[in-house]
Amino acid sequence: MEKYRSKGIKDIIAEFPGVEKILEEYGIGCGPCTVGICQLKDILEIHQIPREAEEELMCRIEAAIYPERNLHVSSHSAGKLTSSGKQVFSAPLQVLVDEHKLIKRWLLLIPQLIKDFDFTSAEDRRVVEHGIDFIRSYADHLHHGKEEDILFTYFDDTAEIFRVIYEDHRKARALVQEMLYALDTVNIEVLTSNLQEYAALLSEHIHKEDEVLFPWLDSRLAKEQVNELTTRFENFDRRLALNDRKFQLFIEGLEHQFS
Ligand SMILES: [Fe+2]
Ligand SMILES: [Fe+2]
Repeated sequence: MEKYRSKGIKDIIAEFPGVEKILEEYGIGCGPCTVGICQLKDILEIHQIPREAEEELMCRIEAAIYPERNLHVSSHSAGKLTSSGKQVFSAPLQVLVDEHKLIKRWLLLIPQLIKDFDFTSAEDRRVVEHGIDFIRSYADHLHHGKEEDILFTYFDDTAEIFRVIYEDHRKARALVQEMLYALDTVNIEVLTSNLQEYAALLSEHIHKEDEVLFPWLDSRLAKEQVNELTTRFENFDRRLALNDRKFQLFIEGLEHQFS
């Protein structure tokens, strides 16, 4: 059974479909989850299952994987644990989730922006340049900066989920370099495909953080660390002195234009 603790839950469900239903009975919806990067041992930690229920759940999963062992396990705790609904974050994690909201608004605008994009139009080029500036300044320097330089330093970031998150950040930066090159070389195909790829990558990335990584990290932060993070985030914002309002107005203006 030990080897399955370090196996991806999606792979386990693919091999033993009954496991999905067992997890659901404990309020864990791995089947429909699109993140798909958790190992079995991560799930127990991320979902903060009480010890008694965890033992019962693991026994039931073991029985599903090894039916020949004829394990007799109770399902006493099943049905008593349900997802708590809307996630409540600590103040500093909520700051990051709120930053995601503005980034997601920009991502939603990208398909319409590139649909009728005209390289000969100075206004179209100005909008794309402004959008790339938002990605570099707000989504990367301000937001990913807080994640990588502050939040993640409180944890052992060698876990698989961190590897995936860092790789997403790296890919996003590479896509931005491609976009800038496409602007310089007036290559509309490269520009639009990189913008599309960026929108898909970041949408999925934010989903991973909001639904899996942040609730997990938040549950492991001590009260003093939460207070320290709040102060460090505020100092980081102050040092960067980014004009958030400028970006909010840019996105609001585009939303109005495309509505
Ligand atoms: Fe991130
Ligand atoms: Fe993020």
